Amino acid sequence: MAKTKDTKPARKAAPRLSTQTDLSGNAVPEIAEALNGLVADYYALYIKTKNFHWHVSGPHFRDYHLLFDEHATQIFASVDVLAERVRKLGARTLHSVGEIAARKSLKDNDKDFVAPEDMLMELMDDNKALVVELRAAHEIADKHGDVATTSVIETFIDEAERRNWFLFEASQTTTGAGH
Ligand SMILES: [Fe+2]
Repeated sequence: MAKTKDTKPARKAAPRLSTQTDLSGNAVPEIAEALNGLVADYYALYIKTKNFHWHVSGPHFRDYHLLFDEHATQIFASVDVLAERVRKLGARTLHSVGEIAARKSLKDNDKDFVAPEDMLMELMDDNKALVVELRAAHEIADKHGDVATTSVIETFIDEAERRNWFLFEASQTTTGAGH
């Protein structure tokens, strides 16, 4: 006996890893591209901040060592949030250290010795560059009405500006009567 044909229209199976979203058009690839660039740069800044945490030297050792560690912890926590935004949109995020290296825009610092004041300046420059990148990603997400992404990015801009505030104040040299 022939099998009865199922009259219900078959639901088209979603390709694996393609989380469904109501965002349309080029929204997903454009937002994912911007977010994946940020994932790479957050990883790069995390490693550099840890590098400086490990290699800082001098009379402010304890202050800078602890400040850099606080910043590294905050930066590392952001990586997962950014990468998971990409997955929530159904796109792929980064897979490897090789992809991070290929996509990052922040420069490594492999010098054997970096003066503490140069560490502060370099981290300030990198955090400022990150804010520029965050604002650009915000514009893309905003254009597509992706308020969840813009909301995450707004918090991350505030965090990067707070890190810059601390780095800037720590870099101020003493003036006047030696205070
Ligand atoms: Fe440590």
